[in-house]
Amino acid sequence: MAAPSFRMAGKIPRQFVDDLIARVDIVDLIDARVPLKKAGVNYVARCPFHSEKSPSFNVHRDKQFYHCFGCGAHGNAIGFLMEYERLSFVEAVESLAESLGLEVPREVSRAAGQAEPGADALYALQERVAQFYARQLREHPDAEKAVAYLKKRGVSGEVAKQYGLGYAPPGWRSLPASFSQEELHRAGLVIVREQGGYYDRFRDRVMFPIRDRRGRVVGFGGRVLGDETPKYLNSPETPVFKKHREVYGLYELLHAVRRPERILVTEGYMDVIALAQHGIPYAVATLGTATSGEHIELLFRYARELVFCFDGDNAGRSAAWKALEAALPVLREGRTIRFLLLPQGQDPDSMVRDEGMDAFERRIGQAQPLSDYFFQYLSSPLDLQTLEGRSALVREARPLVEKMPPSTFRELMNERLSELSGYKTSEKVKNSTKLLSHRLGAVAERARPSLLRTLLGLLVQNPWLFRLLDDETRRLVESDKNAGHLASKLFSALEVNSGIGVGGILELFRGDPAEKQVKALSLVERALSPAQEEAEFVGAARQYKRRCQDMRLKELEAKGSGGALSPAEREEMRRLLSER
Ligand code: UTP
Ligand code: MN
Repeated sequence: MAAPSFRMAGKIPRQFVDDLIARVDIVDLIDARVPLKKAGVNYVARCPFHSEKSPSFNVHRDKQFYHCFGCGAHGNAIGFLMEYERLSFVEAVESLAESLGLEVPREVSRAAGQAEPGADALYALQERVAQFYARQLREHPDAEKAVAYLKKRGVSGEVAKQYGLGYAPPGWRSLPASFSQEELHRAGLVIVREQGGYYDRFRDRVMFPIRDRRGRVVGFGGRVLGDETPKYLNSPETPVFKKHREVYGLYELLHAVRRPERILVTEGYMDVIALAQHGIPYAVATLGTATSGEHIELLFRYARELVFCFDGDNAGRSAAWKALEAALPVLREGRTIRFLLLPQGQDPDSMVRDEGMDAFERRIGQAQPLSDYFFQYLSSPLDLQTLEGRSALVREARPLVEKMPPSTFRELMNERLSELSGYKTSEKVKNSTKLLSHRLGAVAERARPSLLRTLLGLLVQNPWLFRLLDDETRRLVESDKNAGHLASKLFSALEVNSGIGVGGILELFRGDPAEKQVKALSLVERALSPAQEEAEFVGAARQYKRRCQDMRLKELEAKGSGGALSPAEREEMRRLLSER
């Protein structure tokens, strides 16, 4: 049987969008949603995109755009609707057009079939089917057992109504003959019989209409009332139903909570229903598929935090890890993901019924941050006491961290990886160890002069800090190509007399090749308190030492991967690693 083909909506002509923007007035548009005050030639309000006490949200009538000096939000009428009403570009254009009484024209695509019904027909049909199923739940003689089933699972009439639950009657042909069989078939609601004609896909099941975020019915899920298999049946993919793009319960969620702080991502229809039943209306479910990047992008349009809540069994664990992998590439600054793995044998539905809303929300509050989960999951089969374990961690973690878009969070993930492995992973590392060590060498080389300058400058101006320098760091500074000579001479003098003072130091270097360097160091202005100077000095010393050790470690590792290390080198490497 060939997959149904559809004429998908063509592109919106650019000219139409331009005309639209020219015809709407952004001041009216925004004022209808966020009351504006006139201030000079502009209009102002408290910004709807961040919380603030005094208005820094400006709307310019002449330029037809808005700008917030507080959070930087800005855009035109379409941008505002996209942000404020959380619409896609096309939806925002449709909404603006509608407000002006215009039809959105579409560029007709060539390959388009002619008599094929468009997506609109499919939405309309499925809406009617959803209403039919909901009515059957109330009226069909066999619906009693479905109602009993829902009652047994603790679903109230109110929640059933909120989610539009229904009942597909038993029997092969229950859908009304008034529906076009052709269209039902395109929606996947009936199946072709070998001997001709159609039969209903969903029979004797509790029905869950799946709505997109605008409330259009895009498909259905249906659950058996007993132990028959398959337990759940879902609509097949159609032009309006893509499982990696839709989640169950989002429309209902946004009705219940306009601006959710967080969204809970579960795996089951009944998890969403049970959570709503117990006062947690901010859950959605994936549709029998792994969580995709598109799911995550979609959900981040509505909340800054997602909590993945999965069963504590192996399947749940692997689902959680898959979700994490899908999340990495879309984990931009300001987006938070946490994981809540439930005890073995529990799912969100059973859990919230067992312990109630408060206890469950406490669990949510304690859900594991993505970073923790990430390192815990990767390290748990490894022995990080061994080099083998640590290098395996780096090998597995690094390509994953590299999937993340650049952000402070990514840098911190890299830092954590270095801490755990004792291996400095730089932001721009490539896979080859040789190349890696060269690159890192170069990075440290570039970074060193400024660290050393800080270190030595502070020391020249505050000779008393000398006692805070440990032997190894002294030795490292003394062996530096550029500053080594200056440092050895300075250190030897301070060793004997740390009360020497800046004047004494300058005197010491008179006529010395490093005289100019020392003079420059003594002149740097810092405006720090003595305590701050001490902290800065200690920090610079520690970083410097660390960097030298990292470089040395890298050298040894590169050498070790090429040939053999001498026993002394192996011992040195062991010591360096143990010092992390
Ligand atoms: P589970 O098997 O974990 O069931 O399926 P559940 O959600 O706990 O269901 P109840 O509590 O027994 O009613 C989780 C999800 O996987 C998909 C469905 O989307 C379901 O909600 N699934 C499961 C199917 O698509 N088909 C199946 O046969 C089973
Ligand atoms: Mn369940």
